[in-house]
Amino acid sequence: MFDDSYGSEIIRAEEYLTADHPHHPPVERDAELHTIRDALRPLTKRKTPENLLVYGPPGSGKTTCVNHVFEALETEAGVKTVQINCWQYSTRPALLTEILIQLGYPAPRKGKPVDERLGKLREWLDRNRSVAIALDEFDQLEDKAAIVYDLHMLSQQTENKLGLVLISNIPPDGFVLDERSWSRLNCRAVEFKPYTAEELLAILKDRVEQAFRPGAVQPEVLELVADSVADNGGDCRDAFERLLQAGRRATREGAREVTPQFLEEIDG
Ligand SMILES: Nc1ncnc2c1ncn2[C@@H]1O[C@H](COP(=O)(O)OP(=O)(O)O)[C@@H](O)[C@H]1O
Ligand SMILES: [Mg+2]
Repeated sequence: MFDDSYGSEIIRAEEYLTADHPHHPPVERDAELHTIRDALRPLTKRKTPENLLVYGPPGSGKTTCVNHVFEALETEAGVKTVQINCWQYSTRPALLTEILIQLGYPAPRKGKPVDERLGKLREWLDRNRSVAIALDEFDQLEDKAAIVYDLHMLSQQTENKLGLVLISNIPPDGFVLDERSWSRLNCRAVEFKPYTAEELLAILKDRVEQAFRPGAVQPEVLELVADSVADNGGDCRDAFERLLQAGRRATREGAREVTPQFLEEIDG
């Protein structure tokens, strides 16, 4: 009843199109990766790094690229890295607590004053090593200015340094941060532009080899997906989703390969 002989199936590892693959290097983002790496490099010598604001539309590879550099900092350079999604930890106490937990402290009791948490953070930095902190979805944070001030001041007082990477969908001239905090932080802005059709095609080619049986997806399908997604915001997640849907449809209909007829009509 469920016979699906391995040799002919179309989709082999769907997770390559649905989950994040931090161990797989991002493609087509060399310049951005380079900038992030260079800005944080001083941390490896216990020097003050450049803080960063990484911004761009959803699905432009921001989280993936920061993640990739952080992984290298941790494994190749002995820098501690902390990545937090501000959707989940959107207040000053919650965020500081989560940073401490990721640094290995037991969860502090609720209601401990913020100063005490900052003190612990300072203690960790003085005793251990440099830290890079990514605040993903930074625009979701409630106490942006206060937190940026906390972390910035800390880094000026400690032996080991702290590098901040703010990740946001909103460009720096939006309302991400007030003027004063912004200039104090002295952030370098790194723009992630929406992917072009060519870039999407390169990313899709890379993934299709892992997700599908070799030769199961006609090249024209990838081109059509890349073109239409580029025309509709360039969100890489969209491209994966459309490819996956086409693969599923082809499978349901018992086709041997994914041809353009399995692509959904794109509206807009
Ligand atoms: N340059 C890239 N190379 C390979 N995969 C990518 C690339 N950019 C994005 N992706 C994939 O697209 C999805 C969305 O990327 P993500 O980094 O989460 O975007 P953002 O944080 O800008 O919303 C992830 O599954 C990621 O693996
Ligand atoms: Mg993201």
